[in-house]
Amino acid sequence: MTHPEQPNTEPQDEELQENKYLRRIRSFVLREGRLTKGQQRSLDLFWPTMGLEHQATPYDMKAVFGREADLVLEIGFGMGKSLVQMAKAAPDKDFIGIEVHKPGVGACLGEAETEGVKNLRVFEHDAIEILNDSIADNSLSTVQLFFPDPWHKKRHHKRRIVQAEFARLLRRKLKIGGVFHMATDWENYAEHMLEVMKVAEGYSNLSETNDYVPRPDHRPLTKFENRGVNLGHGVWDLMFKKVD
Ligand SMILES: C[S@@+](CC[C@H](N)C(=O)[O-])C[C@H]1O[C@@H](n2cnc3c(N)ncnc32)[C@H](O)[C@@H]1O
Repeated sequence: MTHPEQPNTEPQDEELQENKYLRRIRSFVLREGRLTKGQQRSLDLFWPTMGLEHQATPYDMKAVFGREADLVLEIGFGMGKSLVQMAKAAPDKDFIGIEVHKPGVGACLGEAETEGVKNLRVFEHDAIEILNDSIADNSLSTVQLFFPDPWHKKRHHKRRIVQAEFARLLRRKLKIGGVFHMATDWENYAEHMLEVMKVAEGYSNLSETNDYVPRPDHRPLTKFENRGVNLGHGVWDLMFKKVD
């Protein structure tokens, strides 16, 4: 992979510059998977009530959900089954899912409708852009990142979503006391997550052993996790609290 292009103008603001860098190296490759009829139908029927569009200013989530509640944001929910399960199990919280894969978004909307889940809204967009533009600072009580694309090859590690800049971005968006919860079945990525978060300012590791935490009961097994477990993979959960 070639190095990212250098900007042709002087950065005016270091943070803005960092975010542009994050946007340039994306953590996903958009697969134009075909929508099933059911997914298309769910998008047609339920996007108007459950879908949120990217916008350049932060949403007022109290207005979106019609109440004030803890906000849980999940990045890369895949087909959305475990996200819907979590939202159903915690009706006192509001959930925001972000996924770039349209069939997954359609599947998630259909699942939410089937399960009668009302406390969930969904973006079909790059999570980095949504966090930067459409989510208010100090507004999230939890950020969930479950089984992100591991980018196995060393030369692709820069595409992993968990990086120092990403940790800083989430610190801005989390409330004090808010938690960033990651899980992966790829040991090398777990180690990478730990290295990044150990030196990230403003967080405290919730692990008693200063590394990983047991899977909390509120996290259901995800689709990718099940696949990994069947292949004999281990699973590592990491939880970091924003302390300042
Ligand atoms: C390996 S899958 C895991 C899906 C799900 N969390 C699970 O455990 O079954 C990773 C997902 O993250 C999504 N993704 C990767 N980068 C993303 C980004 N920047 N914004 C939104 N979604 C992203 C991909 O489209 C993919 O569906």
